[in-house]
Amino acid sequence: MEEVRPPGRRRLVVGISGATGIAYGVQVLRFARAADVETHLVVTSAAQQTREYETDLSARDLRAMADVTYKPSDVGAAIASGSFRADGMIVAPCSVRTLSAIAHGLGDNALTRAADVTLKERRRLVLLVRETPLTLAHLRAMAAVSEMGGVVMPPVPAFYLRPRSVEDIVRHTAARALDLLDIDVPGTPRWGDDADAAVPTPLTALSNSTRRAHR
Ligand SMILES: Cc1cc2nc3c(=O)[nH]c(=O)nc-3n(C[C@H](O)[C@H](O)[C@H](O)COP(=O)(O)O)c2cc1C
Repeated sequence: MEEVRPPGRRRLVVGISGATGIAYGVQVLRFARAADVETHLVVTSAAQQTREYETDLSARDLRAMADVTYKPSDVGAAIASGSFRADGMIVAPCSVRTLSAIAHGLGDNALTRAADVTLKERRRLVLLVRETPLTLAHLRAMAAVSEMGGVVMPPVPAFYLRPRSVEDIVRHTAARALDLLDIDVPGTPRWGDDADAAVPTPLTALSNSTRRAHR
């Protein structure tokens, strides 16, 4: 594959699986692009369903938000190899199916294989697991991933920042996920900040205007 990484440019693998909350993955991609981080994206087929339910984005629109995209069936993709250099991986949102596959090292598609590679290469893996309530199977899978060094980060809102919209909640969670990879997102409020000082960036990726822009 063509090497597109300028010296010093950070590289992030992003997985989007079929839990509700595809907005989290979209926002991670938008923040990563704003931070000049090179993104490598896998979207599962279940996530293509949630994209249709939850957004106005086409599959092409979503692909255009990443630098490089891979088909889930492409288990021979660059990101499926330990020799692919990356700073880490975020799965947002992470379904229980994908969590469980990662917890058991299945590597049954390009996303779960890339996550397995991230763990085996001792790089940072962040899973925005979205399910509630949780069964013992879910909890055990989370424990297994944590024991292997992964970070399980359910996308739970922080109300102390007084979010005014779903977009505020999504932006805050996506920024905290990127924090875990030391990717700084300017303009997102933290505890102690004046929430009104945050630079508003509406989640326009989910609107028709962005869809038109990518055509
Ligand atoms: C609209 C919709 C919402 C879903 N929400 C969730 C969810 O929040 N969490 C979850 O684990 N699965 C959820 N699912 C089920 C997953 O999509 C399903 O288990 C699928 O096999 C996951 O495959 P993947 O992990 O390869 O993306 C949802 C499915 C649909 C269609």
